[in-house]
Amino acid sequence: MSVIALLGAQWGDEGKGHIADKLAAQAFIVARYNGGDNAGHTITVGDMVVRTHLIPAGAFHSRVTCALGAGMVINLRSLAREVDELNSHGADLNPDRLKIDVAAHLLLPGHVALDGAGESQLGATAIGTTQRGIGPAYTDKAARVGLRAGSIADVETFAEAFRAHVERTNVRLTRDFARPMLDSIALEAEYANLAARFAPHLADVTALVHAALERGETVLAEGAQGALLDLDHGTYPFVTSSSTTTGGVLTSLGVGPKHVTRVIGVAKAFCSRVGAGPFPTELHDAMSERLRGTGANPWDEFGSTTRRPRRTGWLDLVALKHAARINGLSEIVVTKLDILTGIEPLHICTAYTYRGKQMAGFPGDSAWLGECVPSYTELPGWHEDIGAARRLSGLPRAARAYIEQIQSFTGVPVSHVSVGPERSQIFEV
Ligand code: IMP
Repeated sequence: MSVIALLGAQWGDEGKGHIADKLAAQAFIVARYNGGDNAGHTITVGDMVVRTHLIPAGAFHSRVTCALGAGMVINLRSLAREVDELNSHGADLNPDRLKIDVAAHLLLPGHVALDGAGESQLGATAIGTTQRGIGPAYTDKAARVGLRAGSIADVETFAEAFRAHVERTNVRLTRDFARPMLDSIALEAEYANLAARFAPHLADVTALVHAALERGETVLAEGAQGALLDLDHGTYPFVTSSSTTTGGVLTSLGVGPKHVTRVIGVAKAFCSRVGAGPFPTELHDAMSERLRGTGANPWDEFGSTTRRPRRTGWLDLVALKHAARINGLSEIVVTKLDILTGIEPLHICTAYTYRGKQMAGFPGDSAWLGECVPSYTELPGWHEDIGAARRLSGLPRAARAYIEQIQSFTGVPVSHVSVGPERSQIFEV
């Protein structure tokens, strides 16, 4: 039938997990299309909290095929750990249910080592990456020296290419970073096992997607990170190294725009960012802490991959409108509205001023964005507990006005709102 694109509309960590899980129930294939295990989705199923980094939503829906698309960089070591954990909770991710595109790239130990070494060398100017090797893996892909997932099908070719990867890395680690070399013998044995384990999962995901579409099935394309971390349209260089936007769905899964019928952007009711880079509405006071939470709950604003405290601030509608444009959003899902309960008044950024002049929109250049001063619209807050609301009319008037402000500023309808961490606390508007 069609592809539904589901992606982050801010700087990642928008709470995509629950809506992804809800939509996955109606899909035949759920495919991750970008990034690697830098992503972290927290899903709660009953009283169980599960974190996924590579596997898309749908792991617990037995009729869903989970696919890792060509645009991804896949760390087989992390994948093994994650599959084991999800299977221990009853997911059954066997080779018929978990597919790895032959054209996806492998994220190997050298990439992780070089990410860490590169970030340390940058010191104060570091990007603040997740140190999962994402940048170096995409660098190798673009330089055409990377290893594709398909290489694990042939034991000897893979062993040779893996050895060359370790040798190349060791030259760089010692020459450029004065770091110890990787232990090639131990790694070769470990990766030979991982390759043998995952070879049965190799597939042509693009062909599977097209076959599903021809049969009238729905394919959910699940994004990682967020629009403002996109390599081209985000706050470069403080971005990730993949295409996080709708464009990434098309190139990774090999589908044309005519197949994408819904583009759903997930946005938190406030903003957060982890790592360095401009963040116009960032707060540095008690309100920042209030929005972040203490870390006692899994949904507090601490990185789900790195546990770093996230930077927090007011909702930025200028940035959200930019995300709506570059993705062609057809709808917005607003998450964590309940976190704003009790805050009076609420602030929403509706304009930027750059060197005394009001900007027409979101600047493409990070240096300009870093100098932008946000202007806020003040809105009244609400004090009632909204966790039990299951429809828009069940929300206090001020909460409805907040949602209305998002719709009218961005020109994109809000389709769902979440009012708590439980799977049941997300409702259709
Ligand atoms: P990398 O993707 O690890 O190279 O990190 C590049 C930037 O993207 C850093 O600012 C990270 O904090 C950020 N980033 C990467 N993955 C995520 C994510 O899943 N959520 C939020 N930020 C992320």
